[in-house]
Amino acid sequence: MNPIHQRNVPPNAINPREEIGHLVLDPQQASYLDLLTQDLAHSGDSQTPGIRARAATAATQLKLRMTREQDALMYAYARGSLSALVVEGLSNVSADPIPSSLPALPDFEIRQDVRRLGLRHQILLELVAHDAFAYDLDNEGKIVRIVANLKGGGSVSLPWEPSDVEQSSHSGLALGPHTEAPYWCAVEAQNGHSPSPSALILTALWNPQQEPTALIPLAPIIKELGIDHCLALTTPWFQFTRSDSFVKGMGEDGKNVSILSFDEHGGFAVRFNVYRFSVMKEAPQSVKEAYDAFRAAIDRTQPFRYTLSQSTALIINNTRALHCRDVVRDNMRTLIRVFGYAKHVKPIICSHDPLLVRG
Ligand SMILES: [Fe+2]
Repeated sequence: MNPIHQRNVPPNAINPREEIGHLVLDPQQASYLDLLTQDLAHSGDSQTPGIRARAATAATQLKLRMTREQDALMYAYARGSLSALVVEGLSNVSADPIPSSLPALPDFEIRQDVRRLGLRHQILLELVAHDAFAYDLDNEGKIVRIVANLKGGGSVSLPWEPSDVEQSSHSGLALGPHTEAPYWCAVEAQNGHSPSPSALILTALWNPQQEPTALIPLAPIIKELGIDHCLALTTPWFQFTRSDSFVKGMGEDGKNVSILSFDEHGGFAVRFNVYRFSVMKEAPQSVKEAYDAFRAAIDRTQPFRYTLSQSTALIINNTRALHCRDVVRDNMRTLIRVFGYAKHVKPIICSHDPLLVRG
């Protein structure tokens, strides 16, 4: 059985303290979702034109088989009032043994299990009223991201490993608490930049050592900070450095951005990265104090940890929770990630189908 932390939460319910909902599919619902996913896979993958509309139709069909309690949970997530939704009871997509060494990225991308997990993510995002999308400056503009030790530096060297391995969580670097970039805005495009993702959905193709994914809900921190500090975090006195994961030559450092903004959907929206953000030196003292208090509150918070497998998925609200990762111990740990936009978000669209936006 998949080891699940916080098992005191009943199925299809919200843990109010943690702001994390648990949506549990029964075996019939899981088989039906699997069938819908396989049906999509016969027509292509997440990059295929037409899949976007078909994923939305599949979600509508699945919704007809869900209970009122499940509906209430999905609605709670869709309206922005949850930090995350754990989805359990999903079918495994592959019974194949884990290979002895990690495939190269092009080999990963053509695997049927990877394509199916990407398509299943699209349907699950549609269930909570989100559109799967990609940025032009990230992941080569592709919707499905394979999060694995593809750059080397892990405990076991890759056959193609370069001599100058980039620092990553696979090469001994823990990823501190962050929301996903870009960091310019959260709801409406600004100055030529689309908003940060509303959500990211993760599952594990392989997670042999059952290494958890960690997240920090921000609502308790915002409450604890109080109005003065929160107002200071809404001022544009913050800066960030460019993300290493962006396509070479794209993306840039940012100045004069806020960390917190009011959002009528969900109440607030945060953009933050503990190792990329800093307060500008010209900022008023009150803003510097608010920034220190925010960081200290994050440091004090014990993250929620969840161990992913093929039969589970984690939808993280990227404006309401930070996520982080310890140093990855196992070279084979492979997560599949897709970004989602809530329906009210207004990005700069490069292509509608598949949905590609300017970062
Ligand atoms: Fe991340």
